[in-house]
Order: sequence, then structure tokens, then C-alpha cells
Amino acid sequence: MIEVKALHKSYGSLPVLRGIDLSIDRGELAAIVGPSGAGKSTLLQLMGALDRPDSGEVLFDKRSIFSLSNSELAAFRNTQIGFVFQQHHLLPEFTAEENVLLPAMIAGKITAEKRKYASDLFELLGVSSRKDHKPAALSGGEQQRFSVARALINKPSVVLADEPSGNLDTHNARELHELFLRLRSEFGQTIVVVTHNMTLAALADRRISLVDGKWDDSAS
Ligand SMILES: Nc1ncnc2c1ncn2[C@@H]1O[C@H](COP(=O)(O)OP(=O)(O)OP(=O)(O)O)[C@@H](O)[C@H]1O
Ligand SMILES: [Mg+2]
Repeated sequence: MIEVKALHKSYGSLPVLRGIDLSIDRGELAAIVGPSGAGKSTLLQLMGALDRPDSGEVLFDKRSIFSLSNSELAAFRNTQIGFVFQQHHLLPEFTAEENVLLPAMIAGKITAEKRKYASDLFELLGVSSRKDHKPAALSGGEQQRFSVARALINKPSVVLADEPSGNLDTHNARELHELFLRLRSEFGQTIVVVTHNMTLAALADRRISLVDGKWDDSAS
């Protein structure tokens, strides 16, 4: 479903990704692990077309995403990709529910069906009673769960999550991991997650280890 081919990316004279190949199947939960500075976030950003590589390709269902125009790219990101960032990036002036519905609004209009889906997600995530609060009035774990709902609202082909449990305590981290497993098992959601959390990595279908911008074959 997603194919990464010979991806290279440098920042100035610093080579960050040095020829990355990767293939992710539909319905797969893949964990990317590796030391700080290995290039994990850079790879995830390129897979989600938040940035462009120096060379190489990312194919979604055989279509090269970097050949899309900027407006096509924006639409692609909005509908096909659900991002979960380490920092939740909820907008402070909107309620949690409004934050979650924002990508749906950008994709078109907020239908009754979307509202229903949002409320199903809140139920699943155990945050229904908190949806009318603004982010400042929510705990870190609640904020993170709403940001997961926001990533899912447009039913994206893939969820790209960058250390989603990095700021959570053990209990909330475990709940988030269970949620990812349910999304994969019950909804066939494709998920690529960067994590330092070895429990989450162990639960994934596949672990890939990135070191100095290349796959570490010795780890697998
Ligand atoms: N916009 C940028 N400009 C310059 N250098 C950058 C930029 N983004 C990342 N880098 C550098 O690229 C390297 C890889 O960064 P990246 O964020 O991909 O690492 P990472 O594997 O996600 O690390 P961490 O586990 O600490 O999040 C680092 O040395 C980082 O300093
Ligand atoms: Mg990172």
C-alpha cells in the first residue's frame, strides 16, 4: 500500500536519510524504532508529504505523492493521512470536539454522519464527557486521545504516529497502545508508529530499526 523507495534527505551538509526502502501493507501495524537523531521523524514527515526528499519516492497505492501539485498534496494529506504528533497540536481556542471535526470541515462539510463518527470515537477513547472542553482544561492523556480522534476523523488510509505515547504515563500509554491494536484488528487500520516504547514496539506486527538514516539489519 505504501512504498518508500531509495529515500534520501539532507539538512544542509547533514545526511539524515541515506537510502531508505520500505513497504507497508494495508492493515499492518509497523513500529519504527531507533536512537534519537536517527531520522525517524524525518522519515514519517516525508511519508506524510509534510516535506519533500532530495531524491527517492513515496508511493501510495502505486501513485507517487511528490508528483502531486500543492493543492492535490494538501487534499491528499487531509483525507488519506492521519497524523498523531508527540505534541498534540490541538488549537487552544476551540473545544476538543471542534478540534476533532476541523479536518472534516476542511475536507468538505461536517455532516451528521461525521458528528456521529466523532462521538463514536470519543466513546471508544473514553473521552465523551470531556468533548466540550478546551485543550487547556484537559489532561495530557485526554488531549492525546482527542488528537488521535482528529487523526481518524476522515478515515485515513494510514495513521502516522510520532511517539504518540511519549508524554503519557504508563497507564495512559498502555491504553493508547491498546487502542492502536484495536484499530488495526477491528478496523484494519494501517498504522506506522515511531516509538521509544518497547512494549508498543513489541506489540506491533513488525519492528524496523533506523540507525543513522539507514535500516539496521542486525536488529531484526
Ligand atoms: N529542519 C531541520 N533542519 C536541520 N536539521 C534537522 C531538521 N530536522 C531534523 N534535523 C536533524 O536531522 C537529524 C534527524 O532528525 P529526526 O528528527 O528525524 O530524528 P529522530 O530519529 O526523530 O530523533 P528523536 O528520537 O530525537 O525524535 C537530527 O540530527 C536533527 O537534528
Ligand atoms: Mg523524532
